[in-house]
Amino acid sequence: MRQHLVIGGTRGIGREVVKRLLATGEAVSVLGRKAPSPGDAEAAGVRYWTGDLATDPAGPLAEILARGPLGSLIFCHRFKGPGEAWDGELRTSLSATKAIIEAAAPHFDPTGPRSIVLTSSIVSHFVADEQPVGYHVAKAGMNQMARYYAVTLGARGIRVNTVSPSVFIKEESAAFYADNPELTARLSGITPLARMGFAGEVAEAILFLAGERASFITGQDLIVDGGISLQAPPSMARKL
Ligand SMILES: NC(=O)c1ccc[n+]([C@@H]2O[C@H](COP(=O)([O-])OP(=O)(O)OC[C@H]3O[C@@H](n4cnc5c(N)ncnc54)[C@H](OP(=O)(O)O)[C@@H]3O)[C@@H](O)[C@H]2O)c1
Repeated sequence: MRQHLVIGGTRGIGREVVKRLLATGEAVSVLGRKAPSPGDAEAAGVRYWTGDLATDPAGPLAEILARGPLGSLIFCHRFKGPGEAWDGELRTSLSATKAIIEAAAPHFDPTGPRSIVLTSSIVSHFVADEQPVGYHVAKAGMNQMARYYAVTLGARGIRVNTVSPSVFIKEESAAFYADNPELTARLSGITPLARMGFAGEVAEAILFLAGERASFITGQDLIVDGGISLQAPPSMARKL
């Protein structure tokens, strides 16, 4: 049975990706650190595994891959946890991602579309000093990792791309933005599309790159930010 594997698919963007994949009737495997939200594991076609990529990058991967050949491999995780952010970011975002891609590459379904999408961030291009340096370096490394594998896995028909979101509202942060209307208004005010984006909108971009409509796109980074990064910083400052 062909399956899609979503790493970090229990919350945020990853969970939105999983919901959309399941709606198409495809089988989906999901890896997260903790158990999924109540009710999620009851959906038809989904199986959840737990494992901590920061300490054990291989985790339950062999068991997951034994479930069936891969159609897509989608990364939506980021480091959160105890310990030094630099080591954690590099281990979780770079070393674990590399280990999973290399272990999974021989398991793609040779008869169907094959693709890998890594969720990066706008901080792969810009500096957001509320985030640690390791997050920036890990995301920039992820973009170059995607280009590397786009070239080296291309002959096997596997496409590899990244999506770089700016800040967005997810189910888990909706109450925070609702409770902080000034911040939400300021972020909306500097966005050309005049609002904040939603996790579901990032998930749609990921699934576009993962799917057949992007069949000749590989090694690219798709920025999903409502146009914020098009503007010169002084121009944004005048809007505040
Ligand atoms: N949120 C934003 O505004 C924003 C902006 C730009 C880019 N991004 C990027 O978008 C992606 C998704 O962000 P998000 O905010 O949707 O993330 P999130 O809500 O924090 O969810 C992260 C997912 O990754 C899993 N995960 C985290 N650490 C893990 C580990 N060590 N081992 C296994 N699974 C692990 C989490 O599982 P548990 O919950 O069980 O730990 C969860 O399923 C990330 O790559 C992030 O860097 C986010």
